[in-house]
Amino acid sequence: MKLIIDTDAGVDDAHALMMALACLDAQVECITTVVGNIDLENVVRNVGTVLDVMDLDVPFYRGAALPLVAPWKFETEFVHGSDGLGDLKLRPPARHFPAAGHAVIQIIERSKESPGDITLVAIGPLTNVALALRLDPDLPHRLKRLVIMGGSLNAVGNTDIFPAEFNIYCDPEAAHMVFESFTDSLLVSWDATLANPLPTPVFEELISQPGPRAALYRESCDGMLKRLSEAGYEASVLIPDTLTMAVTLRPELILASENHHVSVELTGSLSRGQTITDHRNWVRVKPNVVTVTEVEMGGVADLFQQFVAPV
Ligand code: BDR
Ligand code: CA
Repeated sequence: MKLIIDTDAGVDDAHALMMALACLDAQVECITTVVGNIDLENVVRNVGTVLDVMDLDVPFYRGAALPLVAPWKFETEFVHGSDGLGDLKLRPPARHFPAAGHAVIQIIERSKESPGDITLVAIGPLTNVALALRLDPDLPHRLKRLVIMGGSLNAVGNTDIFPAEFNIYCDPEAAHMVFESFTDSLLVSWDATLANPLPTPVFEELISQPGPRAALYRESCDGMLKRLSEAGYEASVLIPDTLTMAVTLRPELILASENHHVSVELTGSLSRGQTITDHRNWVRVKPNVVTVTEVEMGGVADLFQQFVAPV
């Protein structure tokens, strides 16, 4: 399976990258970066750190440093720390640096080199994907599939616009363009994230392992879990981007899914960035996404285990 991973790394993005990089049947063609959880320079630095710790060479590219229309700077430190990787204390000396060239051009060119073969996994705001679409409207026909982490299908989001999920809220115009143009994306929404947490005993086992990979996993989670528990949130381990990567790598882990039409609210003063879902499946509107609802978490745990295990 050939992958391009578009990421705003991000704690859970870093774990999703590790998961894909450790998966023997996945070939990560390149990693493209986008602003979101943290500014672009930190996103790029964090991708480099993941490759350093995994000790693997995969080309990565700078992408959009700002959303299409919306301003960028959100309060994301609570989850991702001030560096986007949980205020990581010890980083190995950097050995991986971004390659020359733009992320958006890489998405287009690589899909031309391997038409029908590449799955694009978007685990950040959809800015790069939207820019690629504007430059190359045929892109959806050349990708094997687009997989998106984003949206809240039942209006329970995770941003200060209460019904909106972060990746869509960060760049609603880009998300609108993507949902209008791709007719068969696989969507892992915030609802799916809430419904499929990583079981706490699995998490405890993962963080207790030796080696640099487990150390990166453990240390990047630390601050977020501490802040969540201090704020009185139930300490369940939510894994939006790794859940998305797991169902990309192992589609057989999807136990239940639904087909819906999803669009993006662009103007609502209380709902900008909300995904609007046609739950009635009205006959005149064709579904444009397959939304994951239930995932076999034992299989997800195995994929986590693969990437934290010492090599
Ligand atoms: C999404 O937003 C980010 O905080 C995570 O990395 C994930 O991609 C969840 O809403
Ligand atoms: Ca992300």
